[in-house]
Amino acid sequence: MVRWPDPRLTDLFGLAHPIIQAPMGGSVTPELAAAVSNAGGLGSLGLTIDPPAEVREGCRAMRAATNAAFNINLFILPQAAAQSAEARATLRARLAPVYAELGLGEVPQPQHGAPAQGLSDEMLEALLAQRPPVLSFHFGLPGPAAMARLKAAGIKMICTASTVAEARLVEAAGCDAVIAQGWEAGGHRGAHAPNGPMDGVGTMALVPQVVDAVRIPVIAAGGIGDARGIAAAFMLGAAGVQMGTAFLHCPEASTDMRRRQLIALADGGDTVVTDAYSGRSARAYRSRFARDMVPFAGQFAGYGQMYDFTDRLCDAGAEDVASFHLYGQAAGLGRALPAAELVAELSEGALRLLGR
Ligand SMILES: Cc1cc2nc3c(=O)[nH]c(=O)nc-3n(C[C@H](O)[C@H](O)[C@H](O)COP(=O)(O)O)c2cc1C
Repeated sequence: MVRWPDPRLTDLFGLAHPIIQAPMGGSVTPELAAAVSNAGGLGSLGLTIDPPAEVREGCRAMRAATNAAFNINLFILPQAAAQSAEARATLRARLAPVYAELGLGEVPQPQHGAPAQGLSDEMLEALLAQRPPVLSFHFGLPGPAAMARLKAAGIKMICTASTVAEARLVEAAGCDAVIAQGWEAGGHRGAHAPNGPMDGVGTMALVPQVVDAVRIPVIAAGGIGDARGIAAAFMLGAAGVQMGTAFLHCPEASTDMRRRQLIALADGGDTVVTDAYSGRSARAYRSRFARDMVPFAGQFAGYGQMYDFTDRLCDAGAEDVASFHLYGQAAGLGRALPAAELVAELSEGALRLLGR
């Protein structure tokens, strides 16, 4: 078997190839993740803030489809600040014109409280019972007691960092590897505290600085769209890559038809980082709504609660005025190949470029 230039990640997870298919809540199917794992990469399910029953179901589906390692991903959220009645009224007034334009009626009143902070006891017990081979976190880390129990259960853990300081926290918390997520990345920025949509470090600058700051293997993420990007990540000192947008093109992904059209035509300039849909910064299609909301960055409700206000906009297909299509800057490099073929093509191409 061919050895990659840095075998730490392949050895850690027992992979043939250090290619992690990113967990993408709502866009990944067990079929996609299992195909990646069976092809020698690491398939991931994105469970975001789903209840513990989904961990049981996700692990069951993955174990039925693959004997290889797989990854379960969760959002670990900080305590949300309560929204005042005044802030809520201002927000609803701000959204009213686009609701009117799209014929969606009144801006809804919030239905849900803030999602739970951190990792709940029920979730911890479900994870310990299911013991996914790899567990990854986005937006932050569970507390030390939970981390110690998960580690003692033999679960390998990784977490997104969007800055060098966050990468140091990920290492100090006992994670086995850190995902350095650059600005180009599609989807939600994994910053450990809410930050503005102007706040981010590009992959080319972030990865080598994280490599210099920590001892654990670094997984590069963001804007890696083909074999050249993987080879470049290794040159920057990464031991592997996490690719999301590239896998949105795969037939096994649950990417909806409109987003498939957008990513097929993408050229790198068609996305923007916005917190106007979910309350947390995310790279998505540059809709008119996202652009109109730029001056109000940082003034939305918290993650989870903000969807009460924008769910109907996200789903309102009308000419993409306000639809929420998450994807990254490298979408234009992708090709609609079955996942196993994509992993084979990416790994062969990268190994060739790396002179292996
Ligand atoms: C549609 C979409 C959904 C995403 N959802 C998640 C998620 O649920 N959990 C997570 O850790 N990362 C999520 N991400 C971010 C990825 O983990 C990763 O950082 C990103 O895809 C890398 O950049 P790329 O899209 O340019 O490959 C998502 C990305 C996309 C494109």
